[in-house]
Amino acid sequence: MKKKISVNKWSFDNMPESYDSHLKRSIPLYQESQFFINKISSYFIKDQNINYEIGCANGTIIGSLAKEYKNFKKTKFVGVDLSKKLIIEAKKRYKNIHNLSFQSSNASQYSFKKCNLAIIHYVLQFMTDEEKKILINKLYKQLIKSGAMIVFEKTLMEDSYSQDIFSGIYNDFKFDNEYSPEEVIKKSLSLRSVMRSSTSENNIKLLKACGFKSIYKFFKWGPFEGYLCVK
Ligand SMILES: C[S@@+](CC[C@H](N)C(=O)[O-])C[C@H]1O[C@@H](n2cnc3c(N)ncnc32)[C@H](O)[C@@H]1O
Repeated sequence: MKKKISVNKWSFDNMPESYDSHLKRSIPLYQESQFFINKISSYFIKDQNINYEIGCANGTIIGSLAKEYKNFKKTKFVGVDLSKKLIIEAKKRYKNIHNLSFQSSNASQYSFKKCNLAIIHYVLQFMTDEEKKILINKLYKQLIKSGAMIVFEKTLMEDSYSQDIFSGIYNDFKFDNEYSPEEVIKKSLSLRSVMRSSTSENNIKLLKACGFKSIYKFFKWGPFEGYLCVK
């Protein structure tokens, strides 16, 4: 008799380990992408309007920016995430930070206000093509002129040969971070129908179609990419 594996659909509301440990063990160069977000943001945060993080999870990135800019009296920091559980955690962690708020919503249905900056760190890959388009169009409209969007995405490689090599290397990364082969396979089964990565070329096409003229690919580790998009 063949043994059947029971599969759960991947959900950030129901993860098999704590969120922080999961992220650090699953995303290559996580500290470095936070470094770039922090430094790039300093070129765009002004003492006016709002700064958003879309898919903020338990609030680490937007929380650290809100603390850093607490002396800016007229700007605010807002984190939006689909997961009610992670938003409850974020609100608890940052309850004493007064320039920061969190909203639980599907970001593509959220009403954004005028903003300086939007950060989207490994989130679009969980949205449908239609949702991605709606979200980026909305953000582009609300960004001030010379405002920016910082996007990180796990992409599909340009052909099946490179996809094969870099999927293998990404598995090695997870094994080095002490995930077992069974955990890696279970996660990849649970992500079927949830993960909707695009190629780098298609991501850039979408960003251009939504209006961004200056798009800088400043970060790359195999399929993991970072783009700075300036309005
Ligand atoms: C890989 S995590 C990245 C979290 C965070 N940006 C970070 O780097 O710590 C992806 C996050 O996107 C959120 N997410 C997925 N689809 C979303 C949507 N349609 N609207 C808002 N958040 C979404 C998930 O709930 C999850 O917290």
